[in-house]
Amino acid sequence: MVIRKQVDKKQEELAKLREQAQQGGGPDRIEAQHKRNKKTARERIAAFLDEGTFQELDQFVQHRSTDFGLDESHYPGDSVVTGYGKVNGRQVFVYSQDFTVLGGSLSEVAGEKISKAMDLAIQNGTPMVGLIDSGGARIQEGIDSLTGYGEIFLRNTRASGVIPQISAIMGPAAGGATYSPALTDFVFMVSGVGQMYITGPDVIKAVTGEEVTHEDLGGAFAHASKSGVSHFTHESEDECLKEIRRLLSFLPQNNMEEAPHLAFTDEIEAGDSDIAGVVPDNPNQPYNMNDIIKRVVDEGDFMEIQKDFARNILIGFGRIAGATVGIVGNQPDHMAGVLDINASVKAARFVRFCDAFNIPVVTFIDVPGFMPGTAQEHGGIIRHGAKLIYAYAEATVPKISVLTRKAYGGSYLVMSSKSLRGDINYAWPSSEVAVMGAEGAVNVIHRNAIRASDEPEKLRAKLIQEYRERLMNPYVAASRGMVDDVIFPSETRLKVASALDMLRNKRETLPPKKHGSIPL
Ligand code: HXC
Repeated sequence: MVIRKQVDKKQEELAKLREQAQQGGGPDRIEAQHKRNKKTARERIAAFLDEGTFQELDQFVQHRSTDFGLDESHYPGDSVVTGYGKVNGRQVFVYSQDFTVLGGSLSEVAGEKISKAMDLAIQNGTPMVGLIDSGGARIQEGIDSLTGYGEIFLRNTRASGVIPQISAIMGPAAGGATYSPALTDFVFMVSGVGQMYITGPDVIKAVTGEEVTHEDLGGAFAHASKSGVSHFTHESEDECLKEIRRLLSFLPQNNMEEAPHLAFTDEIEAGDSDIAGVVPDNPNQPYNMNDIIKRVVDEGDFMEIQKDFARNILIGFGRIAGATVGIVGNQPDHMAGVLDINASVKAARFVRFCDAFNIPVVTFIDVPGFMPGTAQEHGGIIRHGAKLIYAYAEATVPKISVLTRKAYGGSYLVMSSKSLRGDINYAWPSSEVAVMGAEGAVNVIHRNAIRASDEPEKLRAKLIQEYRERLMNPYVAASRGMVDDVIFPSETRLKVASALDMLRNKRETLPPKKHGSIPL
């Protein structure tokens, strides 16, 4: 009887300690968090994971610092909640920073908690998701908190290409809090709430005199459209968490696995007689490549990534015949789909992600070339464009391309061409593969004849027409085997699905090396 009572008391004590840990920074701070339209760290985890699956780790960890009054403020679990649970029945590790505890600032022990979760995620081949809401390194702890970040950065880097890593910015991400997300594969931001910057407005004003608001400096809009740091923007936390779950549904658990295959309803063989109509006859008229992609993927479900950054190229995930594919598409609707610095970097990183995680890459091509101009040349288009070549050339996953309209010069080579070991390259019958556009080509090769002519414009038009008829079609490339087949637009989905099926067991190895030296 006495023993039973003791056990009960111990269990009561545990229940009390757990209850305390659930409180984070206490009711007032929780209320303040809610007033800002933000969930608490635990509420976010509950909304993110399958119901009742969360298993928390380290909820009794406390900081060891005694400086600057910290010995007076102890919170069980400190400023981050860590653990694991399930998303659509699949395991995932998660950490969620608790802004109610000293502004979610990263203490030495908070760093240790996150590192422990990451180690388990890496060892067990499980995706890692970080929900960020933090003022950065805990200033009172000095070098100890800095080291916490260093340990996280190391793990982010070593986990790269091993497990998918996702970050969601659901509050401030100041100072050190920015670099871990930047090292992860996908960054989500909640509009009006998430803000990322290395140095805040006050420091900027003191150092450079420049005045800027938190939102203009590092809000979701700035990072989605200008810096390219973020990949997805959402209006609410709930929507953001739901979309992280959706993204995970496209991904394998780790680099040794394949992405899950899902059931699909729309027929592969059916054909799509309307798809050809998306592309205008006039080669200079824009159209939306999204309209083609959505007709090729299962259920029209295309999860576009970085939709507001470098809009001249599209990237994202879809499924074809149930299997995940990474999709890259030039976007004629924006800047004629030209390749520039941002587009090259955006697509290169995506192709490398797909390659690391066994996800085939399907490329939809309609590209007039690289963007001319001093801004691009001096900005390093040579170096950055080389990244996209590098990414396609080193990728050993199945690579399939569909040329819908034009592919000229260097940009033809870059976009998953046969030379870069595109496995199957398809072209629509109205497409053009050429060293450059007809107008430009005629101006170069017939310059003297045009100059000498009495009717230069008439001659130019005739020569352009001749050039176009002779070279601006897919059959020259097809006659060299650089295009594997010229296909009816209506059979695109069927052809791509068949190629993916054929390439399912593709094995290609690169020469042994530690790693390449991509032109960063
Ligand atoms: C300790 C911090 C903190 C931090 C916030 N707090 N950031 N405590 N270390 N880094 C505390 C605040 O003192 C406050 O405590 C509570 O958290 C809530 O913060 P508020 O300022 O009241 O909230 P808000 O107005 O929403 O502003 C949030 C904020 C701001 C924008 C994040 O707190 C801020 O600017 N913090 C400092 C950001 C920063 O400079 N970080 C860099 C750290 S150095 P009380 O008790 O007063 O309510 C770093 C270097 C790493 O990260 C570099 C690695 C590459």
